[in-house]
Amino acid sequence: MAKRMLGDPIGIMDPNQFGFSECIERLINKCNYKIDYDGETHHTTVRRLKSRPYSTLGAKTSCRVIMNRGAHWNPHFNSFFLMVAPSVYLINDMISFKSIDKNCSYGQMHDLGMRIPKTWAIPQHDNSEVTKDPKAKDELIFCYHELFDLKEVGDAVGYPAYIKPQDGGGWVGVSRVENYEELHTAYSKSGKKPMNLQEAIDYTEFVRTVGVGPVMMPMHYNAAAKHSHDRYHRSDTQVVEHNFLSAEHYQEVQRLTKIINAFYGWDHNSCESLIDQEGHVRPIDFANAYPDSSPISLHYYFPELVKAMVKWLTFCAVTNRKKRVDFAYLWPRFFAVAEKLHAGELDYAGAMKEYEAIADEHFDTKAFNEFCAKHMTDFDQVALEFFDSDEFLSILQKDVDDYFSIPQERPQKMAHYTGIFKFWVQCEKDRLGVKA
Ligand SMILES: Nc1ncnc2c1ncn2[C@@H]1O[C@H](COP(=O)(O)OP(=O)(O)OP(=O)(O)O)[C@@H](O)[C@H]1O
Ligand SMILES: [Mg+2]
Repeated sequence: MAKRMLGDPIGIMDPNQFGFSECIERLINKCNYKIDYDGETHHTTVRRLKSRPYSTLGAKTSCRVIMNRGAHWNPHFNSFFLMVAPSVYLINDMISFKSIDKNCSYGQMHDLGMRIPKTWAIPQHDNSEVTKDPKAKDELIFCYHELFDLKEVGDAVGYPAYIKPQDGGGWVGVSRVENYEELHTAYSKSGKKPMNLQEAIDYTEFVRTVGVGPVMMPMHYNAAAKHSHDRYHRSDTQVVEHNFLSAEHYQEVQRLTKIINAFYGWDHNSCESLIDQEGHVRPIDFANAYPDSSPISLHYYFPELVKAMVKWLTFCAVTNRKKRVDFAYLWPRFFAVAEKLHAGELDYAGAMKEYEAIADEHFDTKAFNEFCAKHMTDFDQVALEFFDSDEFLSILQKDVDDYFSIPQERPQKMAHYTGIFKFWVQCEKDRLGVKA
């Protein structure tokens, strides 16, 4: 008997970046998979989710999985996504990202034993927001505010330190302070956001690990680069360095990111880690609801990110994966391991390994790898052809035109990025053993 053919729509919504969603969409279409799974044939198709009116009573989606990279800024979408959350796999859902800010994630990952730098939370400097309502009563509001000595907080953290918003992004409001005077000045200017003061780590290596499902991709990061789009370059004179980390550090940054992502139910998140002078991995920023996914900044790393997302979307759609809405469901298991760590029954490495096993269970890592090996056998080849095509270059051209506002700069920028992607293509051909 012929198997029933199911259409498994993958939904995409990313109003902020063109290239990422465009490449995902084109690659899914090129794959055009019809996968036999669980007694049925699953045809993976893709569509954009549009902002439009919907009945809130009985809101539904035909999608099995949705990549959401915009609900942060669009409450209309966000409430739709929450309503359909039980029936669709959301990457990412806002339930955890709205409740877990950077500050909270520092404390919880410290509790798990990660080597988080000393970090203090400081209330917002400017309270005009809460007092602007003429009916607001100062005595009711400010009896919950305690006067504090900023100098004591600075001394507890030590200098140099970074003062940064508890829920920031894009380096907005981040300052490095060398002493109390600078801290005072920076805090006085910090405005309406609660801040974190964090010990500055003197590091030998800066790694950003981007996670998609169980795939963890460490990337070198050069915070000293003048322009933000050049920060994933190895240095001012070198674009890419393979094997820039020791095997141990590579594995550890992957492991820590996977643990964080599983702990919070995040399918797409990045973790910034600094490797300190003693060789310890120090995570400094790992709650990023919309990690930078633009080819303009990620350049060489971009194709693997797109590939990982296509694989994860396909796996979730075909296997009809369901997402837990109680994102904290694993916390008791993680904290049980933490207890063993704090009781001295496990060391740091032992605890991280145990956490990773929980994370792999959460992501179904083994099943995912088997699925890709069995059902997406030509995927690397299809992706290689796509990233080697003029079609991809035209997507890149649009991103270059959108990003670089000075028209005269664009031909040189386009040549620069084209060269990088041709290099990726060559490396991939070598890896796959594809003859010229
Ligand atoms: N504890 C620290 N030690 C050393 N450098 C730090 C520390 N905290 C922040 N920095 C520096 O400040 C930069 C911005 O900090 P952070 O990543 O926390 O802010 P952000 O607004 O989230 O930035 P982004 O959006 O790029 O992730 C980091 O990339 C790093 O260069
Ligand atoms: Mg950051």
